Parts: sequence; structure tokens; C-alpha cells
Amino acid sequence: MRNKLIHTKGRLGRTMGWLQILLGGLVIIMTTLSLFKFYSAGFIFHKDDVCRYFYTTTRHVYEESFDAKALSDRVEEVLDQLESLQEKLESAVEEMGKNKQVLNNGNITRIEHKKYLEEEVIKPLYNAHIALRQIRLPKVEKNSKNSSTIKEEPLINNFVVEEIRKYISPKKSRIGKLNMYMTENIYNTIGHACVLHKKELEDYMDYDIGSYCKDDWNFAQKLMLNGCDPLPRRRCLTRASKVYQKPYPVNESLWRLPDNRNVRWSNYQCRNFSCLSSKNPKRGYNKCSGCFEMEKEKLKWVRNSSLAVDFSISDVLAIKPGEIRIGLDFGISTGSFAARMREQNVTIVTTALNLGAPFNEFIALRGLIPLYVTLNQRLPLFDNTMDLIHTTGFMDGWLDMLLLDFILFDWDRILRPGGLLWIDRFFCDRKDLDDYMYMFLQFRYKKHKWTIAPKSKNEVYLSALLEKPPRAI
Ligand SMILES: *[C@@H]1O[C@H](CO)[C@@H](O)[C@H](O)[C@H]1NC(C)=O
Ligand SMILES: *[C@@H]1O[C@H](CO)[C@@H](O)[C@H](O)[C@H]1NC(C)=O
Ligand SMILES: *[C@@H]1O[C@H](CO)[C@@H](O)[C@H](O)[C@H]1NC(C)=O
Ligand SMILES: *[C@@H]1O[C@H](CO)[C@@H](O)[C@H](O)[C@H]1NC(C)=O
Ligand SMILES: *[C@@H]1O[C@H](CO)[C@@H](O)[C@H](O)[C@H]1NC(C)=O
Ligand SMILES: *[C@@H]1O[C@H](CO)[C@@H](O)[C@H](O)[C@H]1NC(C)=O
Repeated sequence: MRNKLIHTKGRLGRTMGWLQILLGGLVIIMTTLSLFKFYSAGFIFHKDDVCRYFYTTTRHVYEESFDAKALSDRVEEVLDQLESLQEKLESAVEEMGKNKQVLNNGNITRIEHKKYLEEEVIKPLYNAHIALRQIRLPKVEKNSKNSSTIKEEPLINNFVVEEIRKYISPKKSRIGKLNMYMTENIYNTIGHACVLHKKELEDYMDYDIGSYCKDDWNFAQKLMLNGCDPLPRRRCLTRASKVYQKPYPVNESLWRLPDNRNVRWSNYQCRNFSCLSSKNPKRGYNKCSGCFEMEKEKLKWVRNSSLAVDFSISDVLAIKPGEIRIGLDFGISTGSFAARMREQNVTIVTTALNLGAPFNEFIALRGLIPLYVTLNQRLPLFDNTMDLIHTTGFMDGWLDMLLLDFILFDWDRILRPGGLLWIDRFFCDRKDLDDYMYMFLQFRYKKHKWTIAPKSKNEVYLSALLEKPPRAI
């Protein structure tokens, strides 16, 4: 009986072995065939072919609207997958030939066979299949001039994860051809540098729709700081403190440390607000040290400072009485400038990144508006709208000059004529001062205040209050 069983098992093993070889062969033939079909359709080439095809014969058509590189990368990826599958199958077959004895002994069980087929054959084949299917071939569209153009959705072939592809594929209007914006499609945008962090972005977008997101705001922020900004939206629920308390009323919240329970501390070194004090060397952040100490913050912009580079809010507002109502505070802070301005009935939006401490939560818990933006992008504010831009603690000698120039022009754009640019304690190397001064002065703003003071042996502070003039055109 037992002998018979072993014998049967042995036969089974052999059969499975042959089946596997057969299947493997079939798979390779099928994939080669279907690839060949693709090939003859003209869509699969080696890198060089792709370039030659897309950039010479039809250069005028493909040049701008079509990302041949992404497409060829995706094809390469699938080819690699198939190749490694083939190698695996071949070596498995070889192994079988060598270990005939083992096979005959029937030591490979049915379960193992099944598992092998599932894990090593079916799954990779399926993945390759999906990846091939997901390659979005450019559509040929006839436009009014009767010349065909190739339209390719930007970046879509760079990603495999379905949720990213769903996010970035354009959404048509449900009524009529044009939507509210009078465009054909709504494009959800992501930062172009997202393609440099494909793996990370795919991890970020890997979730179950409708369930809780991972606790990954920090990971998300890293992606943003690395240029994947804007990040895609997600369809998962963000985590929140389980013990969130209602915030203090605004007459108290402006100058009071918020409730520790209203922040999720898991990604910070500290676990409460008092731990963020500058006296604590392990506070987890270094820019803006002391920002979380209200006694220190209360002294800013109100008292006469020993430093000439510190202007007071009342002096600044006195330059334009009643005219300064809304503005932007661009820098790293906990919102004290906005708090002081609020007391003057001026509404200030404060930019904030959570660099090692919960800056955004802190500002919001004070009853002020944090604007979560990086340096990467154009500010989401319209031209000629702001009465005031204040900047401190951020813009200093580390900024690339070209980057700074783009930023300054953006600020000029959003500042209204007659609006004020308050550069507060900008600092840099003494030797670079001329360059920076040129950059600030190039806009020909009216100088209300302009002060330079030494910071250290080699460094200097510059504070300035400048007014954007009306422009003739
Ligand atoms: C077969 O499997 C048994 C246990 O599953 C193991 O003890 C034995 O060494 C194996 N025989 C061979 C030839 O691998
Ligand atoms: C479009 O161009 C093709 C040749 O490229 C021509 O045969 C056809 O008649 C044109 N159609 C129209 C509507 O002009
Ligand atoms: C804040 O305002 C509320 C009423 O709006 C008042 O009851 C409370 O005493 C005020 N707190 C302070 C510190 O003034
Ligand atoms: C705040 O955190 C620090 C260290 O993380 C701890 O030593 C301290 O006791 C905490 N304070 C409060 C009030 O919870
Ligand atoms: C600040 O200094 C000015 C003159 O520089 C003086 O008039 C004013 O009283 C001082 N204010 C305070 C609060 O010390
Ligand atoms: C701010 O507005 C309130 C209500 O309009 C007013 O009572 C208060 O005097 C204003 N404060 C300043 C500094 O203008």
C-alpha cells in the first residue's frame, strides 16, 4: 500500500515535472509570439530603434507631445521581466534533469509544485502581462489642420501602480465636450521629479481605497522636498490623534502652547510641546530654535530691539495706515508674526513645513493659517493681490542665486502695487552681500527702510522694507 502510494507520488512528480516544462515552453512561445505581434505592429523596439523611429521618421509629429522614453522604458521593463522568467524556468528545467533521482523518489510534493507554479511562473507572467497591457500607446488624433498628431498623456507610462495611473489620467467632462474651465480634460498634476522617485511614489500610492493611510506624512514630505511636489492626492483616510481636544478659543490660543494631545507625535523626536524648547539638544529640529517658546516669541516685532535690523510691526504698519490687510509670511516659523498681525486685524498666511517638529499643527492650533508649501513651486496666490510679504529665518546665504531670483519674481508677482516687501534679518556672507543686494534692488522698489548689521565676523544681516511701485504697463 505504502509502496503504491510512493509509486503514485513518483509518477505524479514526474507528470508535474513534465507539465511544468511544457507549460514553461508554452509560456515562452506565447510571450514571444505576442511580443512578435507587437513588434510587427511597430511598438516594441530596442532603445535605439525607438529613438530612431520616433525621432527621425516622424520627428515633427512626436517631438513634444509624446514621451517615447517612458514608453521604451516600460517595454524594457517587461522584456526584462520576461527574460528573467525564462531564465528561471530554464534553470528549473535543468535542475530537474540533474535531480531526476529526487524527482523519481517523489520528494517534490503536489503542494510544492503548485506553489512553484504560482510563485515563480504564474505571478511574474501575470505581472508582465499587466505591465504590457498598461502601456498606454499614444493616440493618433486628427486636428483641424488635417495633420495627425500623437497625443500622449504625460508621465503615465512611467508608473505601473494603478492608483497613480488613475490619478494622473485626464478626466473628461461628464456633460458636453468642455468642462467648467472650458477645457476638454481636467489634469491631476504631480511634480515632474516624481519620476525620479518612482519606487517611493508607488509605495506611497499603495493602499486600500477607503481604508486608513499608512502613517507616512513624513515619507510624503520627503518626496515633496525631493521635488515630487505636488504629490498625488490619495483615496485613503489620514490618521489623526485619537484624543484630539477642541482647540482653545482664539483670545487664548494665539500665545499659549497647544494641547499636546492634538498632535500625532510618532514621527518626531519629541512627544510634547515643552520638549521642543531650544534648551533641549534633542528637540529634533534646528532651524528656528526657540520658536516654540512663547515668552521669546512674544518679544518679536514689538519691543525696541538692540539690533537695528529689527523693525517693529507698529512702525511698519504706520507707513501705510489701514492699507495693510492681508499678507504672506514666508519662512520657517511657528506663526508669531501672523499672531501679532492678527492683533492688528491683519490676516497673514504662514508657510510651514514640518521639518523635525509639528510646525503646521502648531500654527493651526494657535488659530492661524499654515500654508504647506515648499520652495519648489509657484505660490498659489494670484498676481497683484497681497498687501504684504514678510520673510524671515529661511532665506539666507544657502539659497542658490537663480532659485532666489525665481522666488523674488514670484513674490513681486503676487504683491500688489503699493504692497510691502519686508525682508527681516536676511543673512549671508559679507562677500556675497553685493550680489544679494542687487537681487533685492533690481525691482526698483521704494526703500522705506534698509539696514545692514554685522551678525558674526564673516556674516551680515540685512533687513529692508520695500514698496512695490505701480507699473506703467
Ligand atoms: C525527501 O524528503 C524527506 C522529508 O520530507 C527528507 O528527509 C529526505 O531527505 C528527502 N529526500 C531527498 C532525496 O531529498
Ligand atoms: C487630409 O489629408 C489627406 C492626406 O494627408 C487627404 O487625403 C485628405 O483628403 C485630407 N482631408 C481633408 C478633410 O482635408
Ligand atoms: C476669551 O473669550 C471668552 C469668551 O469668548 C471668555 O469667556 C474668556 O474669558 C476669554 N479669555 C481670556 C483669557 O480673555
Ligand atoms: C515632554 O517630553 C519630555 C521628553 O520627551 C519628557 O521628559 C517630559 O516629561 C514631557 N513633559 C510633559 C509635560 O509631558
Ligand atoms: C522705542 O524706541 C523709540 C525711539 O527709538 C522710543 O521713542 C520708544 O519709546 C521706544 N519704545 C519702547 C517700548 O521702548
Ligand atoms: C480690530 O478690529 C476690532 C473689531 O473691528 C476693533 O475693535 C479693534 O480696535 C481693531 N484693532 C486694531 C488694532 O485696529
